Amino acid sequence: MIKPLETVLAQFPRERQWLLPALQAVQHAHGWLSEDALTQVAAHLRVPATEVYGVATHFPELHLAPHGRHHVRVCTGVSCALLGGRQLLAKLTQRFDAAPGASGADREVTLEAADCFFACSMAPAIEVDGEYRGRVSESQLADLESWFSHRRRHGSPSPMLAMESAVPKATASARAALADLATLAHAKRGFGIRVIVQTGTCGRSVGADTLLEPLRAGINERGLDADLIEGACNGMCYAAPLVEIVTPESTRFVVERLQRARVPALLDALAGEPATWPARVLLARAGAVDPDSLDDALVHGAYSTLARALDGSPGDVIAQVKASGLQGRGGAFFPTALKWEACRKAVGEPKYLVMNGEEGEPGIFKDRHLMEGDPHQILEGVLLAAYAAGASRAILYIHGEADLSAQRLNWAVVEARAAGLVGERVLGSSVRCEVEIRRGAGGFVLGEETALLESIEGRRAQPRTRPPFPVEAGLWGRPTVINNVETLSAIPTIVARGGAAFAALGTSSAPGTKVFGLSGPVRRPGVVETKNGVTLNQLLRDLAGGSLDGRPLKGALVGGPSGSVVPATLFDVAMEPRGRVSPGTGGIVAVPAGASIIDIVKTLLAFNARESCGKCTPCREGLPRLLALLDEGDSEQKIRELGETIQLASLCGLGQAAPIAVQKGFESFGDELRARR
Ligand SMILES: Cc1cc2nc3c(=O)[nH]c(=O)nc-3n(C[C@H](O)[C@H](O)[C@H](O)COP(=O)(O)O)c2cc1C
Ligand code: SF4
Ligand code: FES
Repeated sequence: MIKPLETVLAQFPRERQWLLPALQAVQHAHGWLSEDALTQVAAHLRVPATEVYGVATHFPELHLAPHGRHHVRVCTGVSCALLGGRQLLAKLTQRFDAAPGASGADREVTLEAADCFFACSMAPAIEVDGEYRGRVSESQLADLESWFSHRRRHGSPSPMLAMESAVPKATASARAALADLATLAHAKRGFGIRVIVQTGTCGRSVGADTLLEPLRAGINERGLDADLIEGACNGMCYAAPLVEIVTPESTRFVVERLQRARVPALLDALAGEPATWPARVLLARAGAVDPDSLDDALVHGAYSTLARALDGSPGDVIAQVKASGLQGRGGAFFPTALKWEACRKAVGEPKYLVMNGEEGEPGIFKDRHLMEGDPHQILEGVLLAAYAAGASRAILYIHGEADLSAQRLNWAVVEARAAGLVGERVLGSSVRCEVEIRRGAGGFVLGEETALLESIEGRRAQPRTRPPFPVEAGLWGRPTVINNVETLSAIPTIVARGGAAFAALGTSSAPGTKVFGLSGPVRRPGVVETKNGVTLNQLLRDLAGGSLDGRPLKGALVGGPSGSVVPATLFDVAMEPRGRVSPGTGGIVAVPAGASIIDIVKTLLAFNARESCGKCTPCREGLPRLLALLDEGDSEQKIRELGETIQLASLCGLGQAAPIAVQKGFESFGDELRARR
């Protein structure tokens, strides 16, 4: 039954900061945002109707018109395009006789092209009624109707499940409080085999979730002493649907590409080849723990670093992170400890910590793997960061389509709050940290830190001018730290093992480990964590298994729409921030011989032009013009000059980085670009 608007709106306090969550909740309940709905939202939140309209028309995931009964989106981002995404779109356009983008409730099917589903390791991917489908072949499209379902809509603000919040009594030490929790968790745990089905977004897109029911039935039939766990991806997306078996002696086995028909044989044998992984710190527990269980996280050591830190001082935490040399993993590589220190010293209360889980850059999907795989590691990192920076409220901001990430982090917060790890008196200490979840509503620029703050305050996602920087005046003018998911995931290990140990895992200019998303036509697309200073050959040849069809790789797209195609001649150069090859945020798409570089460059440029928020002229007007110059075959000099102007005069990183793909394209693939424009 559709909830009346008044009921949907009643849950939101009448303040502007709830504008985006309120619009998302109305859309979730009614399917789209009618004029009447916008008027009622405006009246309820006491925000001028024109401004509500301004916000509602700004975010791509908010719809001011209804869709057809079924909604099909086809990814044409670089990874998917290289593996046939555009051909899938052409087939469906023909089949439904609907131009991409054609909308309207009168249509049975609304078909759209998408820039990226952030499941690039499962390319080519499509989305049918809110569910992703990976490794889709043209022959599967014949049976597309079997995927139609009751529409699930992305971006619903996850309601906090009601659960008693235990405000723990003040205790002598946080470690003693955690020891009690851990003892209980150990006592509740079974001693049998753990059968972990890796149901991350990637696994689900090829049916991993459909293995749960036959496995459960088979375990029961055989009376096996086994716990079946709905787990997360360990990074081996190429092997999905994947099941990991952990024996009572903690030996781990993986069974790759498991089909339903092979489930009985697996349960009979419970055997397989031992898996090998590269050095893993942030991903150490991903795939091996139950992401929906605080108990399991506690048994694996979660929150022990937080407990120790609370018994010490915030300065100790900052000192270890400083010693680790950790640089932000959101793309700007700013030293994390300096940010925290500045916030701690800044005048103004309360202070805020925002986790940037927006991950809206096509070609990258590592933050989703971390959020889905080990939500308690991130939450512990958030609590440590908030403690160090002096923040008493943390906001976990998660991309509007990353439903599984939001669901798992939401549950982690609920359980942690009930156990006294979040809220008043964290682990019985005098430290307070409230944690809440917010969801994005689309748009690449939303990931830019100040645009993200604007959206939390109920405005359009447009970057602010700086200074002041968020650490001085961020959310509601108060000191605010914004950190990327991967940055926060690294904190518990750094503080536990010491900054120097983490730093030693990388190079002097790129300390520690880095998580990469590998996609495109390679044998083993997925998510890997390696020591920093890794080369593209080590990633694409050694870990990803090289080219899928034996064609040599002529390059790799590194850093998505803010990056460029790196030629194969640089595949042995160590990747370091601001070096000859920078890892960017860690999205690597293999580009085989025969692929068109001009096509990739134009895809990236067109994406940036579409995603420009329009606040500053060089980016808003310059990017479409740059694209047109490329199309028209204008002189290289003119193209370079316009690119430089856009870079120099743009307000935020989107405009500043957008021309890089063109400029580097001319440097590395000049002949091809000049010949084929
Ligand atoms: C257009 C644009 C998009 C961005 N998207 C993201 C994002 O999705 N996730 C992220 O953590 N940082 C993103 N950033 C970087 C953030 O502005 C910011 O530097 C980062 O969240 C800070 O966290 P860190 O210091 O831990 O890296 C983006 C920047 C720009 C200019
Ligand atoms: S550079 Fe582009 S995205 Fe950034 S503020 Fe200017 S117009 Fe908006
Ligand atoms: S899912 Fe298609 S390019 Fe990312």
